[in-house]
Formats: sequence, C-alpha cells, structure tokens
Amino acid sequence: MTSSPPSLAHFLRERQRAGRIDTDLRLLLETCARACKTISAHVNRGALAGVLGAAGTVNVQAEEQKKLDVVSNDILIEANARSGSLAALASEEMERPLSVAPPKGGGPYLLVFDPLDGSSNIDVNVPVGTIFSVLRCPEGVREPDERAFLQPGRAQVAAGFAVYGPATMFVLTVGDGAHGFTLDAQRGSFMLTHPQLRIPPDTAEFAINMSNQRRWEPPVRRYIDECLAGKEGPRGKDFNMRWIASMVADVYRVLSRGGVFLYPSDSRYPQGRLRLMYEAMPMALIVEQAGGAATDGRTRLLDIVPSALHQRVPVVLGSRHEVERLATYHAD
Ligand code: F6P
Repeated sequence: MTSSPPSLAHFLRERQRAGRIDTDLRLLLETCARACKTISAHVNRGALAGVLGAAGTVNVQAEEQKKLDVVSNDILIEANARSGSLAALASEEMERPLSVAPPKGGGPYLLVFDPLDGSSNIDVNVPVGTIFSVLRCPEGVREPDERAFLQPGRAQVAAGFAVYGPATMFVLTVGDGAHGFTLDAQRGSFMLTHPQLRIPPDTAEFAINMSNQRRWEPPVRRYIDECLAGKEGPRGKDFNMRWIASMVADVYRVLSRGGVFLYPSDSRYPQGRLRLMYEAMPMALIVEQAGGAATDGRTRLLDIVPSALHQRVPVVLGSRHEVERLATYHAD
C-alpha cells in the first residue's frame, strides 16, 4: 500500500513551524483553500446546482457576470470576512475593497482575488478557477482603502490559484517554491501531489489567442511568426499551440510541462487585457517560484507598482528563455 501524500493543512503547519508563515497567514490560506473546495463543489454540480448562465448584471469592468462569478465571490467573502486574519479584501467583482473591521477582522493581511477566472468557459464545461494574492496591510493603516493594495507583486507574501478541471488542483507559493495539491474528494482535503513544480527553461509550445493576430504589436507578431515558421524558420524547430482561454488552466499546463503564455497588448486593449493585481501578479510570483519568468514585455511583472486596483497589463510568462527572447524583441 502506498502512503498518502501530506495534506495542505500539514504543509502549512510545517511552514509555520519553520517560521516562514505566521498563524494569521496559515489560517488565511486554509480559509482560501476551504472556499475553493466549496466553489469546486458548485462547479462540479453545474446545471444541477442552478449556477450556469448569466447573472443579468455587469461587474466593474463592464463585463457580463455569470451566476457562478457572483456565487464564488460571495463564498470567498463569506469565508474570509470572519477569518480574523484580514484587514480588507478586494475582488474582480467589486469596484472597491471591503474593509474587514474588528472584532472579527482587523488582521495584518490584505487579500485580492479573481473568484472565478475564465468564467466565459463555465457553460461549455471547460476548466475555470480562482486566483488570489496576499499582501501585508501597510503599517499603521487602520481602515485600508484602494491605496493600501497598490503594492508591487514582489511584496506578495503568498499567492495561489485553484483549477476546477478533471481534478481540482490548488497551487500555492509562500515564497519557497510553487507546490501543487490535488483535492481528494473522499477526504475533503487538498493533498501535496506536486511538490516543487519546475518550469523547464526551454519549450516548443506557446499559448495565445491567435484571433487577435492583426491587432498585435511588431515584437509579438515577430515572435509568433517565428514559432509558426517551425523547423524551416529561424527557430529551427516546430512549435505546438494550445489556448484554453482560462488563464488558470493555461498556466497550470505551463507549470506542468513548460510553455509560454501570452496575452499581449493589442489595438483593442492597449493596456493589455488581463488584470494586474488578481491575475498577472499572483501568477507571476508562482511562475517565478517555479523557475519561470514573467514580464509585460518590458518590465518584470513583479516590479510593476499598480496605480489602480483593476488595472490591466500585458502578460508574457512561462519558460524563461522564451520570455527573455520576447523581452529582447520588445527592446529591439
Ligand atoms: O481574464 C479572463 C480570461 O478568461 C482568462 O482566464 C483568459 O486567459 C482570457 O480571459 C481569455 O481571453 P479570450 O477570450 O480573449 O480568449
């Protein structure tokens, strides 16, 4: 009989014992994982849970909200508003942060999340997920507003995401590597099945929405053209393409077998399409912790200081040598 891998709870207790995280952060991460399990249950039941389809509302980015966007947001708020570890939380689905006041809240951390990433995929049964980032509440700030959140990605103390796919996976970093946990539905626990994920520096696989090709800037056009030219082109090798249109699933693939993921700026989204604080920043930390790289084309994503909670940013992340190549093309 094979022994089962350690649980997330065990992993976090070990990290606390080693002095890497404190009790508040451990409890906060356990709460986020628990919320992801609840969201996973809703996603799994699909139409049976009555959660498919549009909610009939739009979010702060004027995007149509799906019922499951709203349900997932409520689950995360409900779980965290009582956790005692947070000073405030912010979400893709809410215009402004929500302060979590004492006596229940008033903790040392800020949480920012995308409750249901890739939600356009829910109704067609393609993986979706949850992304989150944890920051420290700035010293002396009692009632944190948006400004408290505007910290660069390198200030994150933890970041993670869940993918609700064939298996529900939870990927986490607390700054000592990126680790993957599989939900064991029978135990109701995330188990450490993929410790120390590593992204190989080289790859022959890219992920981009090719339908935007005519809108890209020259460096991205050049990079993709060269990949498409395959063995006969300047790269001298054939490339494969994948695009799931769920960042969580695309990034999980990159963490599993390498690759480069791009959502560049284009003439429709000159600032980029993905959100800096609850998509790009947490994914960049996880990817770097797994040995990969992440840039907006010119600047390391983790060095960008946000100017707004819902700011967008171009994203190139994954296998280090490919990301560096793209940065060189931008510099050229
Ligand atoms: O930001 C939401 C998101 O669904 C990402 O998860 C995904 O990478 C991207 O948008 C898909 O964009 P498109 O619809 O252009 O393929």
